[in-house]
Amino acid sequence: MMKKVDNIILIGFMGSGKTTVGKLLAKNLAFDFLDTDEMIEAEEAMTVQHIFSTHGEEKFRELETSLLLSISNSLENSVLSTGGGMPIKEINIKLLKAMGKIIYLRTSIDTIIDRVSGDTNRPLLKGNNLKESVERLLDSRLTYYEDAADIIIDTDGFEVKEIVDKILMTLKDK
Ligand code: S3P
Repeated sequence: MMKKVDNIILIGFMGSGKTTVGKLLAKNLAFDFLDTDEMIEAEEAMTVQHIFSTHGEEKFRELETSLLLSISNSLENSVLSTGGGMPIKEINIKLLKAMGKIIYLRTSIDTIIDRVSGDTNRPLLKGNNLKESVERLLDSRLTYYEDAADIIIDTDGFEVKEIVDKILMTLKDK
């Protein structure tokens, strides 16, 4: 498969800013903005939360891979924001790598907890101890994110615009 470099793929944990950063980045590059969660929701006519509660996580992971397979040859001039669990499957990473440059938005656990607390839309963070859930999940995913990334951008303490500027600068040097 030929590597297309005209797409940007954003990966990272829930609350790392993939959607907000992705939208502004797309605007700056005059690219389309796409979000895998939104695409799955549109395709299934169901929220992510509803997919998890009725069909389970396994089914959602299958839908994520099917979506990547369906767009992998046609995606162009796009910024693609991905669900936080996308890089845990090898096939997904392979497909994403073939689509474009993978940027990992790296965010500390404290910032993540700040951002996702009070959020009821993320099925994996439901439960009593948010800090414990985030810690456990983040710990199990860090190496996947780092290994999959072409570029790592630290986001802690930066405004969305500053993060986008950092990405644009880094892309220039690549
Ligand atoms: C998930 C992250 C969510 C969504 C689903 C599962 C995960 O996306 O795909 O709730 O496994 O980390 P965001 O990272 O956009 O919140």
